[in-house]
Amino acid sequence: MAITRRKFVQTNAVAALGFAASSAGLNIINSGEQKKVVRVGVVGTGSRGGSLIKVLLSLDNVEIPALCDINKENLSKAVKMVEDAGRKKPDTYGKDEYDFKNMMDRDDLDAVIIATYWEWHSPMAVYAMKAGKYAGTEVPAAYTLDECWDLVNTHEETGVPCMMLENWSFRRDNLAVLKMIRKGLLGQIVHCHCAHSHDCIDHWFFDKETGMDRWASKYLVEHNRDQYPTHQIGPVISWLDIGCGDYYDFITSTATDSFAINDYFMDRFGPDHPNSKRKYAQGDIVSTVVRTKMGKSIVINYDMQLPRPYDNRWMVQGTRGIYNEQRDSVFLKDVSPEYHKWEPFTPYQEKYESSWWQSMKNQAGNFSHGGTDYLELKLFVEAVRNKTQTPIDVYDSAIMSVIGPLSELSIARGSTPVKVPDFTRGKWKTKKPSFAI
Ligand SMILES: NC(=O)c1ccc[n+]([C@@H]2O[C@H](COP(=O)([O-])OP(=O)(O)OC[C@H]3O[C@@H](n4cnc5c(N)ncnc54)[C@H](O)[C@@H]3O)[C@@H](O)[C@H]2O)c1
Repeated sequence: MAITRRKFVQTNAVAALGFAASSAGLNIINSGEQKKVVRVGVVGTGSRGGSLIKVLLSLDNVEIPALCDINKENLSKAVKMVEDAGRKKPDTYGKDEYDFKNMMDRDDLDAVIIATYWEWHSPMAVYAMKAGKYAGTEVPAAYTLDECWDLVNTHEETGVPCMMLENWSFRRDNLAVLKMIRKGLLGQIVHCHCAHSHDCIDHWFFDKETGMDRWASKYLVEHNRDQYPTHQIGPVISWLDIGCGDYYDFITSTATDSFAINDYFMDRFGPDHPNSKRKYAQGDIVSTVVRTKMGKSIVINYDMQLPRPYDNRWMVQGTRGIYNEQRDSVFLKDVSPEYHKWEPFTPYQEKYESSWWQSMKNQAGNFSHGGTDYLELKLFVEAVRNKTQTPIDVYDSAIMSVIGPLSELSIARGSTPVKVPDFTRGKWKTKKPSFAI
């Protein structure tokens, strides 16, 4: 059954109390509600949309009655995936860029998944919430500051949940670290570091074979910012209780000049390629420093243009210890066997395994991004089924996404500090953490 907008607004008073408390924990996964069918429409059936559809098709009692894409080839491939899984052929939408509205207006959908271009995420999620459908949007949930507010305001007006599908928040190691932090093993947390180091020039921003523009390349021509902040900051906001006990105060960002894209094109395609001599606004490395209201700091790196292996360089440091993802190590004062020496993280990973991973390791392991895609969608769908809050809520989504536009503002103003708007309207002071509780 579709959830009508009126029903949502009626349940909203309860939701304000109930959502945080029941935020997709193990109790929901194991609840007796498993049998209720959840109907999900997907808009954007390209590479990422295809991976998400694969996960949706693996979940019990989930149907995909409708798909939307303006690219006929991607749409047909997705229809075939659903049919090949033995499901009913979905209705299709995509006659123009706004046809998603016709899909979202259907009254037989409970939720929509959005895996389109960045500028569409927020308008589509807003439309979905207004149509009474849970919105699950790819990263970043919003590209501009206004779009962050649009998401928050629409959620507050409609009572409909909106979750940014930030899969790295669900990584096994990051969730075990969260448990260690909550048990006090690292003492008072003081500082975190995180990075999205992923060379996407040679295959994602531009066509791999021809070097011609793909849809995301225009952002590199027009903007200088942390283009993709949510993968790295996702786990950090849970480690630092941002939005539920602490909040960003201000940020400062510094960008290098742009060298790598021109160098890549000159080297690979030569000087006559149209992209070789073009001017790119986007610097190669952006370093953002966040100072929090409770006196902590976070360093966030954008690093998606220089040739290099993938890396996130998560690090969290407290008064009693430190975790370093790159070294796959911890050091805990008075616990680690040797003075000022790292010890391997693996035994801690096993001891502090999150209950999500304890219960879903076997199923999740078969899916992309180390199983995180399975976990995030499973929990999203369970929240839809049980009409509860999603594990990542609209505030988390805005808090993660806002690093993009604010970093651009700081860079444009010569790395001066930019105050961060409070999307929670002061509720961060009293709200209790609910993610992975
Ligand atoms: N979470 C992750 O790990 C992860 C990984 C890859 C990509 N992504 C995100 O997923 C999104 C999609 O990336 P991708 O690599 O799949 O790109 P893609 O080009 O393969 O797919 C995007 C699809 O959206 C469709 N589309 C765009 N505007 C539309 C509109 N108005 N109506 C209907 N369809 C529309 C396109 O036709 C295309 O098929 C991006 O926002 C990206 O940031 C996330």
